[in-house]
Amino acid sequence: MGSTDALERDVRALARQIAEEGRGARAGVFRMSWWSDRAMEWAMEKPAFKTQLFRFVDVFPAIGGHADVLRHLDEYFDGDDVPKIMSTGLGIADRAPFGGAVSASVAKRNIVRMAEQFIVGNTPDEAVRNLRRLWDDGRAHTCDLLGEKTVVEADAERYAERVRELLDVLARGAASWTPNALLESDDLGVVPRVNVSIKPTALATHYHPLTGDIGIAGAKERLRPILRRAKSLGAFVHFDMEHYEVKDLTLRLFQELLDETEFSDVHAGIVVQAYLKDARRDLAHLIEWSRSRETPITVRLVKGAYWDSETVHCHAADWPVPVFEHKPQTDASYEACVRMLHDNHGSIRSAFGSHNLRSLAYAISYARAVGVPDNGFEIQLLYGMAEPIHGALTRMGQRVRVYAPVGEMVPGMAYLVRRLLENTSNESFVRAQYVEGQSLDSLVAKPDVGVLPDPPSAATRVATNPSQPGEYNPEPLAEWRRSDVRQSFAAEVAATDAALGAPVNVAAVINGETRETESTTESVDPGDPSRVLAVAAMCSAADVDIAVQGAFEAQKEWARRPVAERAA
Ligand code: 2OP
Repeated sequence: MGSTDALERDVRALARQIAEEGRGARAGVFRMSWWSDRAMEWAMEKPAFKTQLFRFVDVFPAIGGHADVLRHLDEYFDGDDVPKIMSTGLGIADRAPFGGAVSASVAKRNIVRMAEQFIVGNTPDEAVRNLRRLWDDGRAHTCDLLGEKTVVEADAERYAERVRELLDVLARGAASWTPNALLESDDLGVVPRVNVSIKPTALATHYHPLTGDIGIAGAKERLRPILRRAKSLGAFVHFDMEHYEVKDLTLRLFQELLDETEFSDVHAGIVVQAYLKDARRDLAHLIEWSRSRETPITVRLVKGAYWDSETVHCHAADWPVPVFEHKPQTDASYEACVRMLHDNHGSIRSAFGSHNLRSLAYAISYARAVGVPDNGFEIQLLYGMAEPIHGALTRMGQRVRVYAPVGEMVPGMAYLVRRLLENTSNESFVRAQYVEGQSLDSLVAKPDVGVLPDPPSAATRVATNPSQPGEYNPEPLAEWRRSDVRQSFAAEVAATDAALGAPVNVAAVINGETRETESTTESVDPGDPSRVLAVAAMCSAADVDIAVQGAFEAQKEWARRPVAERAA
């Protein structure tokens, strides 16, 4: 108990120290343009504006010419709920954010600038110049080439090619940077200077649970040259984690590739998202697996950036939610994962991604409590987010790595939307601390949640009660992302297949009587049309007349039965 109390005291003191260190940094938390800061403030204050802003940002890449932009602006921002005091960024007040006299080009420029706050460079060369500045300020990077989920082979190929180019440009550019022991080594050895983060869904079409084998094979084919290049350049490749749907695929992809002999010593990492009820179980597996490797892998522990879409998607599909539904549970899960990582230091390397002072202070304090040196792990922060923390932790001697997206804004829209959601969420630490100025004491309190819920089991159908006709429960869509669901479906298909013998003869039954018909029709297996499954009777027009007459007669008795009986 005593040591728990001491740890709690240390965590709070450290969180306060980071906050103090960060004070005096430029006030704009998001380091955005004037317009973007206003847009964020309005989004937080006015839910209706927030919704429209997100809709507009979402549709923006697909909007064509100026007339089209203006039409969308009118449609999206013409409501009474839209604040009228935001101007164009040209200093003209008293006008809707995009409305009235705002030209399409000004609106476009504002959106582009908002996106640029989070992007380190449009091209790898531009990125290198800015990353050098970061390095000189004492910060390392992981460079993320913007782009995700693709269903087009040529796009996947192009993405892979661009990752290889990025590695080359970074390696060439970084070769002349001043050596920095904290950024380039830890207690276990070398920490590569060049670091890229990749999104597996951008590297393969068919990267989906139902076509997992094909998707994984495609991703491996494109990743092998990337890993080879990284290995020869001494660079680090980090596999980002995306939607829950592909989580197990990405874990499998990562482990299978790194189990290949030529990659046994490559520097690589993967993400664990603490908002998942699976997080602790997955992390335990990763630790066990990493223990046996020549070069331990790195786990970047994050909270998770897809909470909104995971939740909405599951509610719509009637699936159990894989994420914790209460924010303090995610925070507590994060701390549980911190303990697992530090307790296994040496078997695994860790990076802590968060903008929450409590979570960061916990990661550092727990390391100290169990004897992991300060350079034995790193803190990862997002480019353009919670800037005061970047400087504070650097000055305090931590290895800070900045997650720095590179590329065009359009493929980066999904990324931008996640950052805007994060910045404006009611649960956001950044918002609570910097925008609402909530007291530090309440912000750094221990997340007290009791026992964390276990991962849910698969969705099941709730039986329909025929005496309650309003409560009809359909079968939920199959959760293909669960291996047990895929396996039981495959088993059923195989059993059905095996049970099919010679074609079944299906007779016509009219008014309860089996009848012979003159002609027949064949029913074939849609997966193998040469295979006849059944030979069915084909009725004549006269047979149909008899059947319809029979139905008319039967209806009289049927109509007299109670509703519940008919519903059943
Ligand atoms: C994202 O793309 C930072 O990987 C995280 O949202």
